[in-house]
Formats: sequence, C-alpha cells, structure tokens
Amino acid sequence: VQFFVATQRVFDLVIAANRLPVDRVVGADGTSQWHRSPGGLVTAMDSVMRHREGAWVGWAGETGEAPAPFEEGGMWLHPVALSDEERETYYEGFSNDTLWPIYHDVIVPAHFHREWWRSYRTVNERFADAVCQVAAQGAKVWIHDYQLQLVPAMVRERRPDVRIGWFNHIPFPPVELFAQLPWRSRILEGLLGADYLGFQRTPDAQNFLRACRQLDGRTTKGDLVTTQDPDGTSRRVRASAVPISVDHQGLEELARTESVQERAKEIRASLGDPEVVMLGVDRLDYTKGIRHRLKAYEELLADGTISSPKVTFVQVATPSRERVEAYKRLRTEVETVVGHINGAYSAIGAPAVHYLHQSYPRAEMAALFQAADIMLVTPLRDGMNLVAKEYVTCRHDDGGALVLSEFTGAWHELRQAFVCNPHDIEGLKQVMLRVMSLPAKDKRRAMRALRRRVADNDVQRWADTFLANLETAPERPSRATTK
Ligand code: ADP
Ligand code: G6P
Repeated sequence: VQFFVATQRVFDLVIAANRLPVDRVVGADGTSQWHRSPGGLVTAMDSVMRHREGAWVGWAGETGEAPAPFEEGGMWLHPVALSDEERETYYEGFSNDTLWPIYHDVIVPAHFHREWWRSYRTVNERFADAVCQVAAQGAKVWIHDYQLQLVPAMVRERRPDVRIGWFNHIPFPPVELFAQLPWRSRILEGLLGADYLGFQRTPDAQNFLRACRQLDGRTTKGDLVTTQDPDGTSRRVRASAVPISVDHQGLEELARTESVQERAKEIRASLGDPEVVMLGVDRLDYTKGIRHRLKAYEELLADGTISSPKVTFVQVATPSRERVEAYKRLRTEVETVVGHINGAYSAIGAPAVHYLHQSYPRAEMAALFQAADIMLVTPLRDGMNLVAKEYVTCRHDDGGALVLSEFTGAWHELRQAFVCNPHDIEGLKQVMLRVMSLPAKDKRRAMRALRRRVADNDVQRWADTFLANLETAPERPSRATTK
C-alpha cells in the first residue's frame, strides 16, 4: 500500500534528463549498488536539486525493468526503463552516434538510421509520460539536453497546464550541420513545444533561431520565435543563453578541508615532487582534445624543451559510452599514444604520463586539482566544460594556471585563462611553455580574476536565472539576474 501511495506523489518542479544522478550497478551476487552518474549535467543538476524540492525523471543506467521511484538526498527519483535494444538505438545510436557528432562539429562522422530515430521518438514519449505522472497542476517542467528534444512538445500536448523549459548542455550546431539531420524539422517542432529554451552561449541560441528561420521558414524577432501549436494557436517561444556553472561554495569548502589539502601534497609526493604537474580531466570523449594535448606534450619531450620527471603529465579519463565504435577507437588511440610516450620517456618508477581510466570521488578530484600546476582543458568543441570552472574553484590558494581551449563555452566567460587552439599543436606547445616560465605573480593575478568570475556566477544563480526566464517567458524577467 505504501508503495502505491508513494508513486502518486506529484511535484511543482520536475526535471527530466536522460540520466538520473545515480546509476544502478548490479553486482555478480545480484545485489545492487548505486553510483554517481558521470558527466557535467549530473554534477550541476545534483547541486541544484539538493537545494530545492522536486522530482528527477531519468534512466538508471541499466536495461530492463525500471526500479521503483525512491527518495535520495531530498530528491524524488523517478526511473524510466530502457530495453537492451533501446540502449543501442536511442542512447548509443541516435543520441550519441547521430546527434552528439552533429552537435560537436562532426569531429567524427554522424550515422543516420531510421530505426534509431523511431526508437528516439518512442523513448521520448516514455519520458513525457513519466514527467506528466509526477508533475503537479501548473508545475514547472525542466527538460535537459539533446537526448530529450521531443519531450517539450509531447508534454505540452498531454499537459497544457504546465510550464515547459529545456536546457541544452552541449553546443547547438550551425545550421549547415543541423541541416544534415533528416529529422531536423521534427526536432525543431519538439523543442518549440517549450515556453523557454536555454543555451550555453548566445551563438548557440542564435544557431537555433537561424535553423527555425532558414530551414522551416518560421518568423523570429530578437530572441523570440513564433510557432503554431497543433490546434492552430500561435505562440512565441524565447531562446537565449544561460551559461551553466558549478557549486562554487560547496566545492571550495571541500577543497579547503585539511584532508583534501593533505591529499594534494601526498599526490605530488607520489609523483616524485616534480617541478611542474600538468593535468587533464575528461570523459574519454573525442570532443575533449586528449590526443592533441598528448601530442603537444610528446613533441616537447622529443625536442628536449622539457624533460620527464621534472615535468609530469597526469591524464584522468573517465570511461564513457564504451560500446560506441568511435569511443572504442578513441580509447585504443589514446592508450597507444600513452604507451608510446611512456616507452620512450619514462624512467623506472617515473612514468612520463600517468594515465588513469577511472572515476574518483569528488574529494580526490579536488585534491588532484590542487596538486596540478597547469590544468589543460583543450576540447575541440564543448558546450561549457565544468572541469575548467571546478579547477578554478579549488584553487583557493590562487595557485595554478588554466590553459583553456577557445572552443569551449567556458572560454566565453573565463577570458583570463591562457587560451589555446588545440588544433594548433605548435601554439599549444608554446602556451604550455609560456605558462611554465611566467612569473608566479602574473599567474596569481589571472587566477584571482577567474575565481571571482566563477564565484559570482555559480550554479544556483544559473538555475535561478533559468527558472525566472521560464516563469516569465516569452517575456524577459523584469529584473535581469544574469550579467
Ligand atoms: P562532460 O559533461 O562533457 O563530461 P564537463 O567538464 O562539463 O564535461 O563535466 C565533467 C564532470 O565530470 C565534472 O564535474 C568532473 O569533475 C567530473 N569528472 C570527470 N572525470 C571524472 C573522474 N574520472 N572521476 C570523477 N569525476 C569526474
Ligand atoms: C554530457 C552530456 C550529458 C551526459 C554526460 C555523460 O555532459 O551533456 O547529457 O549525461 O555527458 O554522458 P553519458 O552518455 O554517460 O550520460
């Protein structure tokens, strides 16, 4: 009886994302454990939802029957089921082998399959149904990311009483790339079911507005696009930028704890107390520019400009989407290069590259950030890149230096970082060398400015701004909360 009552709970705030904040992992003995899910979306939304009452609709990371809804950290988690086939067609296929490459400059080719699209629609319907089950009358429904672009219109059709927002955590592609999608108009219609659409950067919102205009002949004016609902009524939808951020206060508190600071020293000691520790932290994804950064490091070692172990490189690469072909290939390539560099430039007990294909608790990440003199964030394309903001947050000592690709959303805000174009290997080498030789006081000045920027625009402010925009859309909130 209790279970039945529990599933009837409804909420004034409902968020939907492909992933729940936790993944269920069933062990060999059949017992299940919950682990934190990977990625920036979960990092951000977990902090947001811990400060608000609401439900989170998402996939628990395993195929088969969905676990019953449950409460976790003050959130109501409502799992959505995926079958084995849907994992392959909706998640690995359409989401991560069609949309992900198209939305990231086609760094690898995108694959188009009609059965993947059909599965994407079916799963989006399932998410829309789940959202409608837990949304109270007049609730705010906040849908996330590229996996759920049809959900806004599907929810509107079922529940005209709720307000619907969608936020894209990744870039929105230029119209020339978006146009490749055979289902582009269906996707635009799906998104336009929302009242408000949020993007990481203004150019992303502009790409979306341009697609509406050029591909479907819709009228746009400023950040508004006019759409017609299936019943013929005309409606305006607002699309604008709200750059996401990190839980600055919470993460800085963690970084200031004695145990994290001790651990940072321990990490440096176990690396052999090098003069320079360079660090990369990414999901093992081809968008992150991991190979480019390894190549620059290898060339610096090869031409004798730097030497290991005086300069050491740590690359943390979280396992990601391991059944998708492009990710398998990338892993082989990265591991081959790491092996090659280590073969040529390591000494016994002192590898030139410390490569860690593992996930770590937040405290360990904070310690790693503190242990690193140079943080290398070199994506070829990234919606935001929270790692850049986390690094800055953890450097309460104003130490360290951030090398940041101009192709990240973060670069849009963090202009005091040391900028790089990861395609330009020569330039990347120069920026590494420049940062190594720069006087400490110059680096501290840059770090202080970066820290101020992230402190002023943290994840709670991002969520408040998004929700204020949703509340008043299509009008802007009367008092702008963004800078
Ligand atoms: P993306 O969302 O594409 O993965 P982001 O940089 O925006 O990229 O977010 C990545 C998030 O995952 C950050 O919060 C980062 O701290 C976390 N993370 C990355 N690698 C690891 C790891 N190996 N262990 C634990 N957390 C990780
Ligand atoms: C990025 C995406 C998220 C996704 C995350 C991890 O941050 O924007 O939507 O959850 O990567 O990827 P995964 O496929 O493991 O969920």
